[in-house]
Amino acid sequence: MAKIWTTTLLLVALICMSAAAAVEARTKLYPINDQGANNSICKTMVETQGFVCQEHQVTTQDGYILGLQRIPVGRSGKTADKPPVLLQHGLFIDAATWLFNSPDESLAFILADNGFDVWLANSRGTMSSQEHKSLSPNDPAYWEWSWDELASHDLPAVFKYIYGQTGQNLHYVGHSLGTLIALAVFSQHQLLNMIRSAVLLSPIAHLQNIQSMLMKAAAQDFLAEDLYWLGLHEFVPKGLEAAKLLNQLCKLPGIDCSNLMTAFTGPNCCVNSSKADIFLQHEPQSTSTKNMIHLAQMTRTGNITKFDYGNEEGNMNHYGQPTPPVYNMSSIPNELPLYLSYGGKDTLSDMKDVQVLLDDLKNHDKDKLVAQYIEDYAHADFVMGVNANKVVYDPLMAFFSLH
Ligand SMILES: *[C@@H]1O[C@H](CO)[C@@H](O)[C@H](O)[C@H]1NC(C)=O
Ligand SMILES: *[C@@H]1O[C@H](CO)[C@@H](O)[C@H](O)[C@H]1NC(C)=O
Ligand SMILES: *[C@@H]1O[C@H](CO)[C@@H](O)[C@H](O)[C@H]1NC(C)=O
Ligand SMILES: *[C@@H]1O[C@H](CO)[C@@H](O)[C@H](O)[C@H]1NC(C)=O
Repeated sequence: MAKIWTTTLLLVALICMSAAAAVEARTKLYPINDQGANNSICKTMVETQGFVCQEHQVTTQDGYILGLQRIPVGRSGKTADKPPVLLQHGLFIDAATWLFNSPDESLAFILADNGFDVWLANSRGTMSSQEHKSLSPNDPAYWEWSWDELASHDLPAVFKYIYGQTGQNLHYVGHSLGTLIALAVFSQHQLLNMIRSAVLLSPIAHLQNIQSMLMKAAAQDFLAEDLYWLGLHEFVPKGLEAAKLLNQLCKLPGIDCSNLMTAFTGPNCCVNSSKADIFLQHEPQSTSTKNMIHLAQMTRTGNITKFDYGNEEGNMNHYGQPTPPVYNMSSIPNELPLYLSYGGKDTLSDMKDVQVLLDDLKNHDKDKLVAQYIEDYAHADFVMGVNANKVVYDPLMAFFSLH
């Protein structure tokens, strides 16, 4: 993986000649997605592996047009006879993350080959989900959201769409930020009538014990300079501002940037380093700076709340109360089937933080909660590990078959 990030840095250096280059880079790397366009995830990553793939679009209540990919048939040619499964990616990446490895190693393909009707979500702002009813990604207002909106708007729109298309309740698989938004939704007792079970890979909820020195330092910078960052609206990982930040953080004592992937996510045991080129064609992708600040806020207290506007007045205006509303993880219904899988080497989803989440869930029905600990896994192993098929996906499918 070292190679990936060395190449990324090189790319960063090349792209970052001017701030305007960020916008230009986006239009080049992520052209607006037409249905059936040749650069779509279906065309470039699914059909090339011999799978049927459909591009779908769903509009959120706040006007974002999200692209979804569906793999309804396995390589045997037999149409899915098992329930729909929705895969939700994490921060800086998109649905392509479920498709980087071979069909026998990638979760999306494995599920399709095992008879599941597979749906891949793409969060607002990523390559497949750039469009909006009235805004463009070049408008500051387009980036006026944090993961609160991924939970309150993106996820509900996608759930309802899949339910509408299939008439069936779905299984959910989230990775990283894709776990937090689902936990937030379930803690508010929403979408429960459309879900069978949820699998949470590298769960992100409480963030007080985050071990990645690089992420810790980045969080401190986002909090100290929040007004500056908020003024940038879009956070482009391959852009000028990210490169400047990285350059500054990598000089700090105790931060080793010789392998950036490791510095961010921990030492992934099982990611195939020769996937660099495929990875770079798609990732990393933009998010909002507001989202980065929201995540940074969570590292301060370990509390899980809505975005904090930083003062009573701001919070009163948005929430009608002086502090941001809390997402209470203990409110997740005890009978919702949950499968958590977490790694001993993961520096983002730290074991201590996962333990706090499991403590929140201490009254959960015992036969509805599985917690799988994988000692040598770090953050990216759960989606890109070459042995994740045996270590995680087989038990995950066995869990689905019970629910
Ligand atoms: C996609 O590729 C085909 C064959 O190369 C070409 O005929 C078609 O115009 C392309 N479509 C788009 C939307 O670029
Ligand atoms: C790693 O990726 C390369 C290139 O795609 C492939 O040839 C090789 O078989 C992969 N190794 C494993 C263990 O999957
Ligand atoms: C947030 O965290 C602090 C410190 O851990 C704790 O004292 C406080 O009660 C928490 N606030 C809420 C609203 O849960
Ligand atoms: C969270 O929910 C649980 C279960 O409903 C409740 O017992 C607890 O008091 C709640 N905690 C907060 C801080 O509201």
